[in-house]
Amino acid sequence: MSTKTDDPISRKVSFIHISDTHLGENKDFILYNQNTYQKTTNLIKAINSFSAPVDFVIHTGDVVNEPTKASYELVKDIFSSLNHPILYVTGNHDYPEHISWLNSSNQSGFDLVPLTAGSYHFNYGHYKVLSLDCKGSPQIDPHGDFGYLQEKDLVWFLRRFDDDPKIIFTHFPPVSLDVPWIDREMLLFNGERFHDTLLKYGNNVLGVFIGHIHHRLVLNKDGILYTSAPSPICQFNISPLDQKVAFDCNVPASFNYITLVNNNILIKEITTESP
Ligand SMILES: [Fe+2]
Repeated sequence: MSTKTDDPISRKVSFIHISDTHLGENKDFILYNQNTYQKTTNLIKAINSFSAPVDFVIHTGDVVNEPTKASYELVKDIFSSLNHPILYVTGNHDYPEHISWLNSSNQSGFDLVPLTAGSYHFNYGHYKVLSLDCKGSPQIDPHGDFGYLQEKDLVWFLRRFDDDPKIIFTHFPPVSLDVPWIDREMLLFNGERFHDTLLKYGNNVLGVFIGHIHHRLVLNKDGILYTSAPSPICQFNISPLDQKVAFDCNVPASFNYITLVNNNILIKEITTESP
């Protein structure tokens, strides 16, 4: 994989954001009455048939449903058919050690710099990228935790790259999404502190990319852009009236296509026709 080095300011970088594939230990695994292997296969086919330039794909976590070695072997196998390099972020269903294994065994061109506790950073062209592992303890699951180590890594990243354009990936939504059940059950603990840290040090953060809510969503809070990618398996409900989780599994394969150019960001929803 080549990084963009010539005239980096004017060069486009394009990547695909996917999330929450919840793969099982074998091809027959069923979740929410859906075969997650088949749905993920449909997503990979959709990405491979998308003809626009793609520099890489990033998966913002819950790659598997249960963090067993067999599940991650299946991940490695299924995503080997993807036509682009792929990177992974830890979700609450993942183990950081397995995510590191996927990232190290699946890639050749990314120079990933490990930070504390499963987080990492890399440069792509003149863009600086942070993957922040906020997996919490079993006691707070399915919340994530923006604890001391995560704050240390985030502050280091923001201060180290100061004026450079930056993008951040993490699994959990840090701030209220105006969805009662999600705000109550799914947010990042200390998420407002995450947001305040961006406001304090986060000069030129182009976007924060999340998963976990299984639904596409875009939020601009105090000038910080948060956006989530849909799950190919089922989507959760996100109405401001939703007090309990509900599922819509009749969803087509879809992903977010992100373009960075001249420190601007463009997000396109790409959806195939049939579930
Ligand atoms: Fe999740």
